[in-house]
Parts: sequence; structure tokens; C-alpha cells
Amino acid sequence: MGSKGEKRVAVIPGDGIGKEVMAQALLVIEEIATRYGHCIGTEEALAGGSALDATGVPLPESTLDLCKRSHAVLLGAVGGPQWDDNPPELKPEKGILGLRAGLGLFANLRPAHVYPTLAGASSLKPEIVKGVDLLIVRELTGGIYFGQPRGISKRNGQEVGINTLIYRTSEIERIARVAFEAAGKRRGRVTSVDKANVLESSQLWRRVVSEVGKSFPDISLNHMLVDNCAMQLIADPGQFDVIVTTNMFGDILSDEASMLTGSIGMLPSASLGGRNGLYEPVHGTAPDIAGRDLANPIAMIASTAMMFKYSFGLEREAAAIETAIASVLDEGYRTADLMAAGGRSVGTREMGRLILDRLDAKGH
Ligand code: IPM
Ligand code: MG
Repeated sequence: MGSKGEKRVAVIPGDGIGKEVMAQALLVIEEIATRYGHCIGTEEALAGGSALDATGVPLPESTLDLCKRSHAVLLGAVGGPQWDDNPPELKPEKGILGLRAGLGLFANLRPAHVYPTLAGASSLKPEIVKGVDLLIVRELTGGIYFGQPRGISKRNGQEVGINTLIYRTSEIERIARVAFEAAGKRRGRVTSVDKANVLESSQLWRRVVSEVGKSFPDISLNHMLVDNCAMQLIADPGQFDVIVTTNMFGDILSDEASMLTGSIGMLPSASLGGRNGLYEPVHGTAPDIAGRDLANPIAMIASTAMMFKYSFGLEREAAAIETAIASVLDEGYRTADLMAAGGRSVGTREMGRLILDRLDAKGH
């Protein structure tokens, strides 16, 4: 997709702080469009809890249709305690999982990059996290999240809950290729994370990743067990370049990796592999701070930078957003989640406005 012609973006703010951070991201998109002369049309749709309340289902057909017709999808976050007791099919999270599956987004890129000025915001010692720049490549449409059979049923007089962890060769091959290709554009190292000492699905995973690796002779590959990886991430995170792993391990390890950066409010993500990409922050809806102008909009705004880069091939625009974020952090502005690093405390809207201002200064 070149820089000419209208780009259509489906916008799903979702629930809780999703709405607040999305509002700031939309202002950034508008500003970039004006500055760089792009025509970007946005259309809002419902998914998650707000869709349940309005339509009775977490992913209305019309939302999936709109996403399929769009060049990219932006998602805030979905979920909240008011829907906790819903049956499995009517949980807000089904909305997000349905989007990932429905759009064929098997590759989830979750970069964790420690801004030098935020090294003090991490709960780890600054010398451990300084310079960390890793990318988690999470398999997103397979594994235990989607395996059949699943469900809760009665067996011999008591209830059993079942999920199935299954990976097919083709699913492992395609996510491994994404990881090796990404490493080729970075520092050339892939760590594949599994639980091959216990799980057969991981033994296959390990074998297939090694096989795919043979086609990438310039990339170094090592395998790591997930429990060890969880430890290594906080003991010596600087050793990692690209981590490739399964759906559930990637979910867990990316939350852990976010703490290296100081806050989960810093982590953007891109989900790719289908016709278009979906971009969302790694964080959730944070019901405890929702509606109070306290949320950090940086992960959402950085997710739009990933959209410009991966869906539109607009590297300069993506870099402008990333530079604006870095400038605001360098100047010492912090949302509440980052205050451990010291600095000037600002709210969601103010953080968004500051980033917009810096775009102004750097734009052409
Ligand atoms: C994430 C979230 C989702 C996941 C939930 C909301 C379904 O935790 O994107 O990491 O588990 O994938
Ligand atoms: Mg998660």
C-alpha cells in the first residue's frame, strides 16, 4: 500500500481506558494526515463489553465486516468486571479473539523498548534494563486459546474444564518465519521459547522452528524453556533480541517484559498475517482508573506508529510519532504509571496534547 489514496481505518475504542487512550491516538492520526498530506478515513465500531451492552454479542457481524473492508484496525482494550460472570461465549474477550481469528492475524509483534529516560521507572535496577530492546513474536490464532475440544462439562459426577494445546506444523512454520525475518532487520538473534521438557506440542514446536531456521543461516537461534525465560527476562533482559513463542506463553511473557519498560502502558502491538493489520496496546481496560484521565496513552499512540509502518509502509510518519513520544519523555512528562522515574505528572489528555505539540515541531 503506497502513500497515495484513501486509507480506511476501523476504530474500536472498546471499554474502560480503551476509549480514553483511543481519543488521543485519533488526534495524532489526524495531525499526521494533515502534516504529511494523507487522506485517512476512520470509522468507529463496537467490540467487547460495549458491544455486549449495545447488541448482546461481543463481536457484532457489522464490526468484523467493517474491519475486513478497512486497510487497518485500531483497537483500544476490551473487558471489565461487570461482564465477569458472563458465560464463555458472551465474555468481552471473545470479541478480541474473534477479531484475531476472523482477520487471520496469526503474528503478534510486541516490542519492549526501554527509553533511556525511563530506566528509573522500572521496578528493576536501571543498569539491568538500560538499553533493552526486544521484540516478542507471539503466535496469535492457535495453541490453547483456540484448540478443540474445550469447555466445561460433567464427568463421573463432577465438573471438568478442558482446553486443548495443539499446534500444526504449518502454524509453527509461518510464525517462525516472521520471527527470523524480523531478526534479520534487527540484531540477528532469535530465542524460541517453549516447554519441550514436558509438552509434546512444544517438542514439535522446537523441531519445526529449528528446521525453518536452516533457511536463515545469518540468524542465530537458541531454544529456551518458558520457566527459564521468565527468569532470564528479569535477570538479564539485554540478552534478548527476538523471542518467538506460543499464544499463551507470549501472553504471559509480554506482560512480564512490559515491566522492563517501566509500565505496561508503554507497550504497543501489531497483529499481522491477514489482509490487514490490527494495532492495539498490550494493556487492558484498567477499570480502576477508567474515566479519570489517568491512563497512559503512549502504548496506544505507539500502536498507531506501528500501523503507519506495517500497514501503510509510511516509515517517516511512524518515526515522527516515535520521536515525539521520546521527546516528551525526555522533557520529563510522565503519566501516573511512570512517576517512579520522577518528573512532571500529567493526565491522559495532557500527555496526548504534548505528543501532538512535538509532532508539530518536528513535522514537515
Ligand atoms: C492480550 C490480552 C488478551 C489475550 C485477552 C484480553 C484476551 O491479555 O492481548 O495480551 O490474552 O490475548
Ligand atoms: Mg495479555
